[in-house]
Order: sequence, then C-alpha cells, then structure tokens
Amino acid sequence: MNSRSLVSIEDYSKEEMLEVLELASEFEKNPNQDLLKGKVAASLFFEPSTRTRLSFETAINRLGGRIVGFSDASSSSVTKGETLKDTIKMVDNYCDLIIMRHPVEGAARYASEVAEHPVLNAGDGANQHPSQTMLDLYSIYKTQGTLENLHICMVGDLKYGRTVHSLLQAMSHFHPTFHFVAPESLKMPEAYKLNLNKLNIPYFEYTELDEVVDRADILYMTRVQRERFADPLEYEKVKNVYILRNAMLANTKENMRILHPLPRVNEIDPDVDDSVKAYYFEQARNGVFARQAIIAKALGLEKQIAR
Ligand code: CP
Repeated sequence: MNSRSLVSIEDYSKEEMLEVLELASEFEKNPNQDLLKGKVAASLFFEPSTRTRLSFETAINRLGGRIVGFSDASSSSVTKGETLKDTIKMVDNYCDLIIMRHPVEGAARYASEVAEHPVLNAGDGANQHPSQTMLDLYSIYKTQGTLENLHICMVGDLKYGRTVHSLLQAMSHFHPTFHFVAPESLKMPEAYKLNLNKLNIPYFEYTELDEVVDRADILYMTRVQRERFADPLEYEKVKNVYILRNAMLANTKENMRILHPLPRVNEIDPDVDDSVKAYYFEQARNGVFARQAIIAKALGLEKQIAR
C-alpha cells in the first residue's frame, strides 16, 4: 500500500488526526491555495454521492488541481467487464491521487495495494469512511472546543453504517462514553463492542431515542440505508424507526449539537433545522476543509500550506 493512502481511519495515529484537524483549520482561514498546481486527481465513484464527491472536488478546485473521473460507473469500462484491478492500474497512469467510493468492503484497501499513487477511501461498503470521520472530528472539535470526555450518541443504522464505524474508532482515542441507539436488527456489530471492552471504553445500548437524547454532547443521527439491505421487507420494518423532532430537544444539554453525515430522509424532521443545535449543514461545509487537509497530507504538501 502507498504509505500516504487513507483507507481506514486506523491508518492515522492520534497525532496524525490532530495534525489534520489543525491543517483543516488553516484551510478554513485560507481556502484558496495553489498547492495542487499541475496535479490531477481521479474521482472514481462506483456509488452515488453528493457530499463526499462534491466536497472532495471542491477541495481539489480550491487547491488549484484538476479532476478526472466518473460519478457513475455505468459510463466506465467496468460495464464491459473490466476488473477493479485493471481500472485502478489504468487510472493510476493518468493521475497523482485516486479518490474512490465503492460498494464492496475492502475495495479501497485493494486499490491502494494496486496503485502507486495514494488512494483516499471515500466509503467502501459498510466498512469505513475515514474522510467523513475527519470532518466529523473537526465538527465535534469546533462545536465542543475539545474531543475529550464527550458523550457521543450514535443513532440509526449502526450495523451497516460505515461513518459510525470509522467515527467510533477515531473517538476511542479521546475517552468517550458511547450511547448506541438502534433497532435489534441494526445494532452495533460485536467486533466493535469487543474492541471497546478491550479499551475499557464505556458504552450503553438502547432501542428508544427518547431514553438518551438528554445525555448527549453529540447526537450523531444516521439514515437507515436501503441500499445495504438484501431483503426490502427488512428495510421497510426499520426505515422510519427514529425521527428526531424539535420538541425532543427541550431538555437536551446546551452544548449538544446534532450531526448527520448522510443524506437525510425522514430521521430528522425539518422543524429541527432552525434549532441552534442543528449542525448538519455546517458539518457538510467542514468537509471541504478537512478534505483539503487530507489531500495535502496524502501528497506530502503539509509544509507548503499558508499559515
Ligand atoms: N457523507 C456521505 O457519504 O454522503 P454522500 O453519500 O452524499 O457522499
């Protein structure tokens, strides 16, 4: 693997995460910098995306780079039977950096082993979404003033949710208490809970959102993802299981902020949008700065960033 790839959030040490947060804050102060002049990034999205693809592409544009790629694999030679290996080897010839979203867990790791240039994982199946995690950490830090000793409440699809898996691993460096709210069929997988046990990190599980909302510093809402269900009937059973409404915020902590990393369907009522506690639109904006920092680090350009 190219050592500058970011495939899993565990590819970053705690110190590297903090470094990326600091770089993100520099980019927020000064977003237009010509660090990528003469460089080309490939943006390969085998699954739909709005936030991740467009914020990565905005980040590259703001850094003066160019982009090639596709937002729909049906326009690529994959439809003619080309393998992922060959696709990556071809694209690797054309660019300095590969950003890839793929429905198969492990696809980004495989791509990073095939490519000579760094690969940034923009989400691989239910596995990892590390660039989302960096913007989530940045959002948490900006709203709480710290990453330490926070009560993080994760709600919704904790089984297939790659953003919750990556965030859980990242926050584990900062002495959190986790609260997991999910229906039985979408509970946090055992492997993640076993790891928390090993690290002596407390976690609590709930099936009702009302039971826990008042304890949260960060309320991390997620969508139940239709595309991860093999059986549509199973999706129908749980699709609207949690809906956050403004009235439910009455007794929440003053510092509490609501994040949502994904496209919202029904899980946050629009009547929450005007609350000072709703942070999901700013969270998406933070994605540009966090991704500028990730790109600069992947290409070894940290020292050239204006400070
Ligand atoms: N955060 C996220 O993965 O959203 P998109 O699917 O819109 O990229």
